[in-house]
Amino acid sequence: MNAVFGLQYTLAAKFPLHSGGLLRPARGRRHPSIYRTETQGITGKRVPGKKAKELSDEVSNSNYAGFNVGGSWHPPAITRGEGVHFYDADGNEYLDFSSQPACVNLGHNNRAVIKAIQGQAEKLDYIGASFATDARATYSEKLRTVLPSNLEKYYFGTSGTEANEAAFRMVRSYFAKEGKTKVMSRYNSYHGWAGATGTLTGNARRFALEAGGGMPGVVHVPDPYCYRCPLGLKYPECGVACADYVDYAIKSEGGVGGLILEPVTGASGVVVPPKEYLPKIRKITQENDVFLITDEVMSGWGRTGEWFATQHWAVEPDILTTAKAMTGGHFPLSLTATNKRLAEYYDKNWLPVAGTFSAHPLGMAAGAAAIDEYKRLGLVKKSALMGKHVGKRLAEMKEHHRSIGDVRGLGLFWALELVKNRATKKPFDTPDDYLTGGDTMVHRVAQKMMADGIFIYTGVVSHLIISPPLIITKEQLDTGLDALDEALKVADAETERA
Ligand SMILES: Cc1ncc(COP(=O)(O)O)c(C=O)c1O
Repeated sequence: MNAVFGLQYTLAAKFPLHSGGLLRPARGRRHPSIYRTETQGITGKRVPGKKAKELSDEVSNSNYAGFNVGGSWHPPAITRGEGVHFYDADGNEYLDFSSQPACVNLGHNNRAVIKAIQGQAEKLDYIGASFATDARATYSEKLRTVLPSNLEKYYFGTSGTEANEAAFRMVRSYFAKEGKTKVMSRYNSYHGWAGATGTLTGNARRFALEAGGGMPGVVHVPDPYCYRCPLGLKYPECGVACADYVDYAIKSEGGVGGLILEPVTGASGVVVPPKEYLPKIRKITQENDVFLITDEVMSGWGRTGEWFATQHWAVEPDILTTAKAMTGGHFPLSLTATNKRLAEYYDKNWLPVAGTFSAHPLGMAAGAAAIDEYKRLGLVKKSALMGKHVGKRLAEMKEHHRSIGDVRGLGLFWALELVKNRATKKPFDTPDDYLTGGDTMVHRVAQKMMADGIFIYTGVVSHLIISPPLIITKEQLDTGLDALDEALKVADAETERA
């Protein structure tokens, strides 16, 4: 084990996490042409018409662009959505191949969810979270039918960030008297952009989120990222040493009360852990009396072929957080669900979490209708089934695209990791390229796809994320995959020859 842990120092030297990030001058920034969205840097189908350009200009001139450099943001103006498609102000149709950022799992404009929101708005538009409503009671009952069965008490918020901030507060407050106020997370992760969650986030976004100071008491640990093992090992001979490292880190740190992780990592590249990893992490956290928080903001709601990704490994977390596809993206809603131990504690102690829009009646109605729709359409099973087709086709693509370094996924949740050199795994771009608004290779591939009428989400830093609405047909999947196959030529052309 010593050799394994010794590697952390070598790695820290090789991949300096605080390598300057935003403080460095932008290096050779290339600006893309006409359209560019906030996080994906994509171009529209063609040069926009007058009205579309006016809408785009008004928005980009007067609105901030999240996780982007404002001046390079020229968003396509979208006016309508229907099923797996959305439409721009010029009437161009786009296939949504990523459910936006993995939230429109039911497709755009699901009629049942819209009707539920309308019905609730007519009855009771808003009431504060200190009141009970029929919508809230109904939704709580329905949640019990899909969540891991040990999770019995719910806090509703409005975003994934808020769900994770709530989990962090609950853990810290629970263990405050014992001084177990540290919370661990992994490097290759995203948990949100606020105080605690911005620091818990481990990927390149953290350099910007932490600028000016992060949250004390956050400790990062390595990931089960086998393609680029942070410990320099190979599965299965490694014995899943990255999980053992967590045990070592908890004991060496002292004062650790929680560990948060994405069971299947999302925006940082759809990393599916080896089968032993999560059960092992569950055992370690239990033995050390550390709360395990599984962040299912992206991986929940059928995305991976189970209601929640932890269910693939029969792991029950102490806290599960989720958001995004809870309402199929129709209303901002999030959940922090806890086990009995936390529930009983907060029956007797003051909960340091609240929000004006917590348990908003429209969100409760939308969430309940969404669960009904997931069940009626059999979308969880469908995701598992259709995912096999995606995996097969992506594996075939790897055979003839030199730029594909790795293909990973589960259910309808897949990533391609692009590399400049497959032998050395050299990436096309660096975190600095991403943080300075550079026109990264994945953006360029996404631009080509958008020009062909397919929207694809780009991860941090070198991934393309395939996470279409779970209602997608095999033919529609093939349309998107064919466009991806074609667009990857952009990357292939810039790979290094062996
Ligand atoms: C795993 C994960 N956690 C948390 C968040 C933050 O959610 P939100 O953007 O709703 O605040 C995201 C968003 O992409 C996410 O993917």
